[in-house]
Amino acid sequence: MESHTIERPEAPADREREIEDLRAENVAARDENAGLREAARASKLEIDALKSAQRQIAFLNQNLETRNRDLERLNKELEAFSYAVSHDLRSPLRIIHGFSEALKQSAAPKLSTEESNWLKKISDAAARMDRLTEDLLRLSRITRSQLKREAVDLALVAREVVHELRQGEPQRNVVFAISECPEVHADPVLMRVALSNLLGNAWKYTARRPQAVISFGMEEREDQAVFCVRDNGAGFDMAYASKLFAPFQRLHSAREFPGSGVGLACVARVVHKHGGHVWADARTGEGAAFFFTVPDTPNQAEDTNP
Ligand SMILES: Nc1ncnc2c1ncn2[C@@H]1O[C@H](COP(=O)(O)OP(=O)(O)OP(=O)(O)O)[C@@H](O)[C@H]1O
Ligand SMILES: [Mg+2]
Repeated sequence: MESHTIERPEAPADREREIEDLRAENVAARDENAGLREAARASKLEIDALKSAQRQIAFLNQNLETRNRDLERLNKELEAFSYAVSHDLRSPLRIIHGFSEALKQSAAPKLSTEESNWLKKISDAAARMDRLTEDLLRLSRITRSQLKREAVDLALVAREVVHELRQGEPQRNVVFAISECPEVHADPVLMRVALSNLLGNAWKYTARRPQAVISFGMEEREDQAVFCVRDNGAGFDMAYASKLFAPFQRLHSAREFPGSGVGLACVARVVHKHGGHVWADARTGEGAAFFFTVPDTPNQAEDTNP
């Protein structure tokens, strides 16, 4: 008997399912396409926003550079002005002081007490102004000096300063603790100015302590060498700490402790010139500590920071 294979047409239900599947795939592909187009549009918007932010940053940077240059120029002008004023004021001031002293001596017998007092006030005021101009010149010289870096042993400088302080007032009972520290790459003349002022302050503001203790050393903080001058003297209220490094600002009266308030301004200028930071910590009646850094790698502020 002959056998036949009968080709059976696909069942209409299967065909319809296949068509349905194809349609669904098509819809999914269309959705995916739309999603991709949307994502591309969003990315383009983000890129545009980024580009615009970059343009704005570049513009602001340029502005900042211009303002920095202007500030630098103004600082230099101001510095030159303050130097000229303080320098040129000195000779007329000395004349006033000198002649009022001469007059006081030669005319003393003829002057009333009141007139003598007037003359004294004139010469005292002239002498005070002379000291102020000298202080301004001190500050000015630091700003104008050119930084000459070399290896400096700050502990050695501190010992030299201490020797001078002791020679000036040998009767004082002061214990100094100076620790060895690694050398810094700095200007030796300016670092001496900074340490003279910091150790000089520690010496001055411990004058009322029967047993003064002053230390100098270095500690590591967050991988940075921090130098510190510490004393157990009069201290001060930290609420006024922001004034410390501004010229002519004092936290003690001249009656308590003499001075003009320029020492720490000099310290700040020296430290800033080296690209470092300076700050203080103290308590009234419990002593003070002054910290500073001298970075080996100078930052951009070096030699432009007043
Ligand atoms: N070690 C310290 N202990 C307590 N107070 C201090 C200390 N160092 C500074 N000060 C306070 O900070 C002020 C400013 O110090 P700075 O060295 O600039 O001036 P000064 O010592 O008063 O005068 P100058 O240093 O010009 O002779 C001081 O008047 C004092 O009030
Ligand atoms: Mg001082």
